[in-house]
Amino acid sequence: MASTITSTASTTARLTAPTGRLFSQGTDVHYGDFRDDLLINGFAVVKGAVPRERALQYASDVYQWLEEFNLGFDRNDPSTIHKDHLPDINEKGMCLGYAISHESFTWAVRQEPGVVQAFEKVYDTEDLIVSFDSVNIGFPNRKDVKPNSPWPHQDQDPEKPGFRCLQGLVNLLPNGPKDGGLIVCKGAHLLSEEFHANFKEEERIWSWTSEWYGFTKAGQAWLKDRGCEWVKVEAEPGDLLLWDSRTPHYNVSSETSQDRFCVYTCFMPVADASKEQLETKKMAFEETKMTTHWPNAMHVVDLPVYRNGELDPHNRSKPRHPVQLSERGFKLTGIPYLEQRA
Ligand SMILES: [Fe+2]
Repeated sequence: MASTITSTASTTARLTAPTGRLFSQGTDVHYGDFRDDLLINGFAVVKGAVPRERALQYASDVYQWLEEFNLGFDRNDPSTIHKDHLPDINEKGMCLGYAISHESFTWAVRQEPGVVQAFEKVYDTEDLIVSFDSVNIGFPNRKDVKPNSPWPHQDQDPEKPGFRCLQGLVNLLPNGPKDGGLIVCKGAHLLSEEFHANFKEEERIWSWTSEWYGFTKAGQAWLKDRGCEWVKVEAEPGDLLLWDSRTPHYNVSSETSQDRFCVYTCFMPVADASKEQLETKKMAFEETKMTTHWPNAMHVVDLPVYRNGELDPHNRSKPRHPVQLSERGFKLTGIPYLEQRA
């Protein structure tokens, strides 16, 4: 009898579960998982998307990658946390060179089944592509780089409203309230259109792309007046943090002795990418170039990397080892879909 009840209950749940991509049926629906948090709050944590031990191994791989530059960095010696001993990492923890987007640990995280499945649920499709985004390597108490001042922003063009992109990162180390990391403005994604209607005439903070909007002091006050609070997202190793591109966010540095490492993972349906974008993405993959979080290769990042004012001789255009992908992982590059569209 019990099994009949269970079966009936699961059948009912299946029949009533919303279909289509997130937000396609509004916000007054119920999934019974992290998607409800995304609808209501604009962010969510998928606990244990990567098994904890594997996440810690990826963190160890990042330490090893840093040590293998042979610049003197030693994970067990905090005095070696200095730009002279490290590849170039900016004050926000972003490492934007050295083909880090195509390193073994970066691709391994992107191919983690629990990560891919979370995005499959959000978009209601298995036909996804993934960004070739960066890795965040945040060390505490850095005095050798400028201070990390908050830059609250949304990664979406105000002229293109609605749910367009889900951003994500896989957290690799313990990340408590003071350990640095992601700060999000809870619930503000639902106010995005109203906000931009109000601030249409405002002088904008400069951005190199229209797909970025910086919140001024007046904008932040508007959000506060509507009851939106800024929340520090806490996470364990292996947790996947997700946020709607409309959700205002920024990151802070660790105030403890805890390092903060994460891999940015952003997926979207391949159907959202044009043939030209998939061709750009193929080039970026084959030349192991970085993209921003947009999986459709909207931006390919190929910036010079400097050390003491000169081009960094330690920069490289290829990862240490050729990229190894599973069949599923290769689909995430978009290349098989491009061949279908030819
Ligand atoms: Fe961002």
